Amino acid sequence: MKVLFVCLGNICRSPTAEGVFRHYVEQAGLSDQVTIDSAGTSDWHIGKTPDPRTIAAAAQRGYDVSTLRGRQATAEDFNEFDLILAMDQSNLANLQTIQPAHSKAELALYLPRFNISPDEVPDPYYGGEDGFELVLDMLEQASQALLNEVKARL
Ligand code: 4NP
Repeated sequence: MKVLFVCLGNICRSPTAEGVFRHYVEQAGLSDQVTIDSAGTSDWHIGKTPDPRTIAAAAQRGYDVSTLRGRQATAEDFNEFDLILAMDQSNLANLQTIQPAHSKAELALYLPRFNISPDEVPDPYYGGEDGFELVLDMLEQASQALLNEVKARL
């Protein structure tokens, strides 16, 4: 099963989602059965490491996202991945504009897809460090729900 997380810049929310979920999948012993990646809807940070605040906040909880590099989501992703999970409504709308007709992937807003509220993982880029903690809290909760679904589907 292949899962892609998408935000705007691919330096804050989606690399965190990738790092957290990869950890959960490793802990479950399912790494060889699940492919995990992340991307941005923008081309602003292609090839860049996650934001230093993202790396630091993730590391404090035991997730290493320092080796990840930014990339932009593409139309091809819709035939590569099974599940494409957008962090907010704007990301979802942007993905819908590049989604090919009849492609493989299910496209959804991440938190509502697993009945978690609020609807959006808020963009922490222009805020303080507590924003990164909130992102981690939300993504840990969502990762557990996503892992449960992955286990049921494998
Ligand atoms: P992300 O956060 O979408 O969670 O990676 C952002 C990163 C960069 C910018 C905005 C949001 N930016 O304006 O450069």
